[in-house]
Amino acid sequence: ITEQDINQENHLLIGGADATQLAQQFGTPLVAYDVSKIRSQIKAFKRVFEEKQVPYAVSYASKAFSAIGMYEVVAQEGGHTDVVSGGELYTALQANFPVEDISFNGNNKSYDELVMAIDAGIGAIIVDNFHEIDLIEQILSTRSTSVNVLLRITPGISAHTHEFISTGQEDSKFGFDLKSGQARVAFERVMKNSKINMRGVHAHIGSQIFDVHGFVAAAEKLVDIVADWRESFGYEVEVINVGGGFGIRYTKDDTPIPAESFVAAIIDAVKAKTEALNMKMPEIWIEPGRSVVGPAGYSLYTIGSRKDIPGINAYLAVDGGMGDNIRPALYQAEYEALLASNVNAKSEEVVRIAGKYCESGDILVWQQALPQTKPGDVIAILATGAYGYAMASNYNRNPKPAVVFVEDGQAKLVIARESYDDLVHLDRHYV
Ligand code: LLP
Repeated sequence: ITEQDINQENHLLIGGADATQLAQQFGTPLVAYDVSKIRSQIKAFKRVFEEKQVPYAVSYASKAFSAIGMYEVVAQEGGHTDVVSGGELYTALQANFPVEDISFNGNNKSYDELVMAIDAGIGAIIVDNFHEIDLIEQILSTRSTSVNVLLRITPGISAHTHEFISTGQEDSKFGFDLKSGQARVAFERVMKNSKINMRGVHAHIGSQIFDVHGFVAAAEKLVDIVADWRESFGYEVEVINVGGGFGIRYTKDDTPIPAESFVAAIIDAVKAKTEALNMKMPEIWIEPGRSVVGPAGYSLYTIGSRKDIPGINAYLAVDGGMGDNIRPALYQAEYEALLASNVNAKSEEVVRIAGKYCESGDILVWQQALPQTKPGDVIAILATGAYGYAMASNYNRNPKPAVVFVEDGQAKLVIARESYDDLVHLDRHYV
C-alpha cells in the first residue's frame, strides 16, 4: 500500500475507488481488482522480451483467476492465455479470446476436452503423457486439421516452495520423465505423426518461487533437451516454455524481486546457453498466473461478531472465509489485512481474523495488528487476486462473492454474487 492507495479521508483506494464505497455498493464479501495493476504487470513482462529482442508469448495462467472479463483484459494487453480444463477453455472462448493464442496444460485432459480444443483451433496443446498422445492421434485420425504441441517435461528441479505447489521435482505427477528417457520417446512418437507439429518443450517448476536459480536451471535444462534432440534426430524445436511461478509479496516478510526480473534472468540464461551450443534463439513462453492477478486483488469483508478470550486471543469474525479464500487453511498462507475506513490508523491490538465457516481452521489471518474496530467496519485483505476466487467453494452453502474490476475510479461487476437460487439451481427433489 502506497500513499496513492489512500484518499484524504484515510480510506483505502482500489483502482481509484473508495473501498468502503465498493463494499456498500456491491456488498461483501467482495473481490475487487485494480485492473491497472493487471495491465501493468503484463506490460512489464512484455517489455523485458521486447528490450532483449526475443520472440515470446506472455501466456497468463488463467487458473489463478478465470472469468470472461479477465480474458478480455489479457487479450486487450496482447497477452496469450493458458487453460487447464474444458471449463477454462469454454470461458476464454466466451470472451472471444483469440484461440490461436490459447495453450492447454494438464496431466489428464479428457478425450472430450481435447476434441473441444482441437476443433476450436487451439494454439498449442502442452502434452503431458503418452495416454494424451494416444488421444490426440485418435482425434486427428478422423480430421484433416493438425495441432501444435509442446512436450511438458519434468526437469528434475525442486523449487523451494510449499510441497503441494512444487511441481518440477522428479517424483511428480506432471510431464514426461527425463532420466528414464520418456521425453525422448514422446518426441519420436510426435515427430512420426505429420498432423502433430512439434513446436517445443515446457517445464513448470512450482509456484510462489523467490529464488531465480530454479528458473535458470530449468531453462538451461530445456535448452539441453532441445540440443540433445537436435543431435539425435536432426530437428530443432523452436519454443521453450518455462511455465510460471514468480513469487509475489503477501506480507512484509516477503521480499520478492519484481516478477519481470525473473524473466530477464531466464532470457539471459537461454541466450548464453544457445549461443554456446550454436543454436538459434528459441521463442520463450512464460505462463505467469499469480504475479499477474495476485497483487491486483483485494478481498473486502464486513466485520460481524467478536470473541475475546482474556489473555489469550481476540477473534474478529468476517462475513466470508475459507469458501472464498481457502489458501490460509490449505497452505498456511499468510496475508495482511487493514481497516478500509482508516488505513493509517495506529494499531491498537492484535487479532485473529476469522471466517464464518464451521471449522476451527477457518482463519484468514492468524495475527493482525489493527486499530479498534466495530461491527459493520470493512476489512480489506490484500493480494488475494490469485487462487482466491478461483478456488472458491460453496462450503456451508455460502454463495460465492461478487467480483468487480475497478479502473480510473470506475467499478464494474465482472462476476455477479451468487444467490440462494443459484445454490439450489442444480438440486433435484428426491421425494
Ligand atoms: N503453468 C503451469 C503449468 C502451472 O501448473 C501453473 C500453476 C502456472 C503456470 C502458474 O503458476 P503461478 O505463476 O500462478 O505461480 N493453488 C496454489 C497454486 C497452484 C499453482 C498451480 N500451477 C496456491 O494457491 O498457491
